Amino acid sequence: MPFSTLPHQTGFYRGKVRDVYSIGENWLIMLASERISAFDVILPRTIPFKGQVLNQIAAHMLRHCADVCPNWLLEVPAPNVSAGWRCEPFKIEMVVRGTLTGHAWRTYQSGKRILCGVPLPEGMQEHDAFPHPILTPSTKASAGHDEDITAEEIIRLKLATPEEYETICAYALALFERGRELAGKQGLILADTKYEFGKRDGKIFLMDEIHTPDSSRYFLAEGFDEKRRSGEKPVQLSKEFVREWLISEGFMGQPGQQVPEMTDERIQDISNRYIQLYEKVTGETFIPNPFSEEETFERMKECAERLVAENQSNG
Ligand SMILES: Nc1ncnc2c1ncn2[C@@H]1O[C@H](COP(=O)(O)OP(=O)(O)O)[C@@H](O)[C@H]1O
Ligand SMILES: [Mg+2]
Repeated sequence: MPFSTLPHQTGFYRGKVRDVYSIGENWLIMLASERISAFDVILPRTIPFKGQVLNQIAAHMLRHCADVCPNWLLEVPAPNVSAGWRCEPFKIEMVVRGTLTGHAWRTYQSGKRILCGVPLPEGMQEHDAFPHPILTPSTKASAGHDEDITAEEIIRLKLATPEEYETICAYALALFERGRELAGKQGLILADTKYEFGKRDGKIFLMDEIHTPDSSRYFLAEGFDEKRRSGEKPVQLSKEFVREWLISEGFMGQPGQQVPEMTDERIQDISNRYIQLYEKVTGETFIPNPFSEEETFERMKECAERLVAENQSNG
């Protein structure tokens, strides 16, 4: 969708995946696009229904975690749009890991036994569960790659005060616990995920998307142990299959590396996997977004008016 203006719009930011409209001083409207990023690079082709899947899973999860900590979401004016409180972001991504998967496994395999200051036990295999979920924060780079960071560095660099960081850590672990419960009810294992927090009115809020295939890794619980015992890969419902495909084609987002060709079949496969994940995670049948881009934009305009009119007093 081309950029155009909403009522009360005060800013616009095109993220890797979402278009973020600032409304007044206090609100955001986020349109989830069909763009897909991996290794912090936006891939050359878009994935049908990915924006809707992402947005609806995030909204579902934010609603089911609203009692764990305050979050930014106020309304979902269209299947691919969310609106809510604008927060002042902490420039860290709070990664929580239940299993030795993805980046943690790649780091472990390279021989390292400390991740973000957290010591890792010897003798672990890929996807083994940690004794307790671990926090492995990363920097939230405005450009380029996010990098692992320790709690000490976060405090030293004043990315959060010790008190704020303590609260954020407690929220992140509690959210992960809830995320695992919600996943478990749907026959899924939440392996790891990433949260972003910000401040509004002096209070810490959970912001951004949560528990989506872009920010999390899920496994099918059924067959997980059996597959691992027999040396097969457990079935993963997340973006990791995109990353693995890219790695197998020699692409890890490094300078000079070329994104492999995305065939129609590949696109369709990725789209199907996103839809499958939506149905699996929410337990609901996927209904393709009925709105055209114009209709969606109309809804965003009405939403912008509502945000300013209805939330003024407690904003
Ligand atoms: N409630 C919020 N307040 C302020 N910023 C937010 C909020 N929710 C999400 N964001 C930010 O909006 C952006 C969402 O778009 P995204 O495509 O994920 O961008 P990015 O490429 O920066 O990850 C992110 O930068 C995220 O940190
Ligand atoms: Mg993001």
